Amino acid sequence: MTALVAAAIAPTLVAAQVVTWIGGNTTLTPVWGSKGVASAVAWPPQLQRHAMAADLAGNVWVFGGMAGGSNKLWTGTAYACDLWKYTPATGMWTWASGSKLLNDPGVTDTVGVASATAYPGGRAGPMMWCDAGGSVYVFGGGAMTNDLWRFSPADAKWTLLSGTTDGSQASTGVYSGNAPTPGGRSAAAVCSNRGLTQTFVFGGWGYDSTGAFGTNNDMWMFDSTSAGWTWLAGNSTCRNQGSYRGLGSGSAGAYPAARHSAACWVDGAGTSVYVFGGFVIGSSRPSSGLVNDFWRFDLKASTWTWMAGTNTPGGVGTPGTLAVASTSNLPGARMAASSWASDTGDMYIMGGISPTGYFSDLWRFRPATAEWTRLADNGQTTTGSVALGVPADASRMHSTMHQTAAFSAADRRVYLFGGTLFWQTQNEPASALFVLDASATLPQGSATAAATATATSDSGSLSTPKTSASVSPRVSVWTLILPVIVPLLTALGIV
Ligand SMILES: *[C@@H]1O[C@H](CO)[C@@H](O)[C@H](O)[C@H]1NC(C)=O
Ligand SMILES: *[C@@H]1O[C@H](CO)[C@@H](O)[C@H](O)[C@H]1NC(C)=O
Repeated sequence: MTALVAAAIAPTLVAAQVVTWIGGNTTLTPVWGSKGVASAVAWPPQLQRHAMAADLAGNVWVFGGMAGGSNKLWTGTAYACDLWKYTPATGMWTWASGSKLLNDPGVTDTVGVASATAYPGGRAGPMMWCDAGGSVYVFGGGAMTNDLWRFSPADAKWTLLSGTTDGSQASTGVYSGNAPTPGGRSAAAVCSNRGLTQTFVFGGWGYDSTGAFGTNNDMWMFDSTSAGWTWLAGNSTCRNQGSYRGLGSGSAGAYPAARHSAACWVDGAGTSVYVFGGFVIGSSRPSSGLVNDFWRFDLKASTWTWMAGTNTPGGVGTPGTLAVASTSNLPGARMAASSWASDTGDMYIMGGISPTGYFSDLWRFRPATAEWTRLADNGQTTTGSVALGVPADASRMHSTMHQTAAFSAADRRVYLFGGTLFWQTQNEPASALFVLDASATLPQGSATAAATATATSDSGSLSTPKTSASVSPRVSVWTLILPVIVPLLTALGIV
């Protein structure tokens, strides 16, 4: 209360995590415009499980995913293959490539040759990144293929660089020889260094060196200069249970369990890759489920350090005090969160799928001090409390974005597109675009009021999973489906 009274007496601007809803929704009709032409009215379709990345010029790219204007998430018949570019400086979307059709199988051309007619087929859960020269890469996803594509914005041509595009056969990983390549996979963690010269792909759900299918813990590096893959760590066979040798010790031989839908970041110096959470599926583990173990992989020493979290599913984390950094803070177990690293080397994680529903909280990790800070809490479910075009504290961001965020270095802001809007009663794909500005200011009164209200009413839900009553209208489809899928796959010998 003290802060609120002070704000009323002396209204000043304070730094806050400010989020603004730019446009899009769940019910809007997409506007395609002309291919390759930026448009003030063009807007992509509603998407989930698509991929996003930003180039060094600040353009934000969106590819693939599951599309729909109603709840089509699990019909399995609505995969998009269109590539979109959002230019923050102009606020315009460009339909850059791909077709408007859902479930388009794509067109392949000669491997290694740029083609005006080729493009990757529709898919959910692809991995995407940009390189220093502005090219856009798409890897795998969908039917667990390992096709690697490069899009050149200058001439709008795609090149199929490597891998197989046929999901009817196992896309087996190759871990030795002159042309190693990860096996086909979906929902791997992907992160690039600051200069976009190296990209790291960790784990995911797919095929190993023997063609067996399951979750993986292999760490791969893609070097954009050589356009080649290097297998850095982890196992060439799937379903590995990891080795947890003690927290923080960095002891030789420690490494994380296989998983999909984790988050990862590269530190500012480009010397370590951090990995958080995801979904582990274990034959010898106590159970399958969401984890919050936090790992650092030292790229020079090639060693893993288990930094924090638990080695069994369901870790609730330590919420600490809102906006106060602490080495003992940690987000709760989750998968498919949005994550990004800023140009200052800070690492952020937002939302994701919790053991009982969705998160829409926001956290920051500072590698220099090894401190996590809870910056914003789960939004409350009042429809309309985030209004189009009106900046709001991120605590009022009622949106669960899945892996759908990109940090644009040009304006030092984060763009969040699609996923699920937190206020929807169904797991509706959305076409909403939000911008998050971590360095913006808000009148202290509104920022503090929002933070105080949220902290008071929602603080319990961060340390303990939300009660089923509080999340029942928006229970994750993953949560409903995984208990069915996992025993089924186990029975089939797949996981
Ligand atoms: C977004 O869509 C919902 C319906 O799904 C509607 O109630 C709401 O008014 C829309 N908001 C805006 C700003 O378009
Ligand atoms: C799994 O990978 C780790 C290194 O990341 C290695 O130490 C371990 O021997 C591997 N296990 C198997 C079964 O290959």
